[in-house]
Amino acid sequence: MSFVLEAKSINKIYGTHDNQFYALKNIHLQVQKGEFLAIMGASGSGKSTLLNVLSGLDKPTSGEVILDNIDITKAGDAALTKIRSENIGFIFQFFNLLSILTAEENVLLPLLLSKRNKNGLKGKAKELLNLLGIGHLHSAHPPNISGGQQQRVAIARALITDPKIILADEPTGSLDSKTSKEILGILRYFCDTLHHSMVMVTHDANVASYAHRIVFMEDGQLVDELKLKDKQGDRKQVITEITNRIEGVLS
Ligand SMILES: Nc1ncnc2c1ncn2[C@@H]1O[C@H](COP(=O)(O)OP(=O)(O)OP(=O)(O)O)[C@@H](O)[C@H]1O
Ligand SMILES: [Mg+2]
Repeated sequence: MSFVLEAKSINKIYGTHDNQFYALKNIHLQVQKGEFLAIMGASGSGKSTLLNVLSGLDKPTSGEVILDNIDITKAGDAALTKIRSENIGFIFQFFNLLSILTAEENVLLPLLLSKRNKNGLKGKAKELLNLLGIGHLHSAHPPNISGGQQQRVAIARALITDPKIILADEPTGSLDSKTSKEILGILRYFCDTLHHSMVMVTHDANVASYAHRIVFMEDGQLVDELKLKDKQGDRKQVITEITNRIEGVLS
């Protein structure tokens, strides 16, 4: 079976020879097409470090990150920039939209970095904004729309290149709980229905409950896994189960 993204034997070591610190230790992780994977763990457990290594932003000390059959840890700077801009979509906690651009221009921004044919992409930006329920806001500027609407623009921006994988670090961390639920429902829909693949970092059990699968980190290692995809039950029950697992990891 081939995976969209695969991390093999990842170590990330900081510090000098006699004072080594493993930020990541022997990480093996595989993401399937259409999978929504959440990474949970306490503050300092290595979640962001892992996401940065998966995205090629940071190089591991050893190990491989295979994205669509290419080991990105071996790619040079120019190749990596191209791989990142064409194959990876990013969603951030604070949206990172440019205020001077309209919603539609923000969505189109990643394409400025990519040399691909731009014909028809304006139509695609409109289509994505429509799909996200904010088509009418295409010419609005980010400061004039709500946080939830801004995150929808950011999701459209992450999807405009048809990336192989979407990486998100606390994507609902600055939204209220009702808006968070809407955004997470959208992310889950994109994975379930449109077969996008996503890795999301969160410390929040409510947020993680929208994923198909959760892996738990402790001191740079993956220590547990919970599969939610085939669970029926109500969300409350799932959240309780996640919370119990985290408590197990932290105890
Ligand atoms: N550049 C660096 N040099 C040294 N240590 C680092 C560096 N970057 C991260 N670390 C350490 O690696 C560990 C993991 O950090 P990381 O930011 O990945 O944690 P996290 O799980 O994302 O935490 P949070 O939930 O607070 O965002 C921490 O102990 C951190 O201090
Ligand atoms: Mg972090």
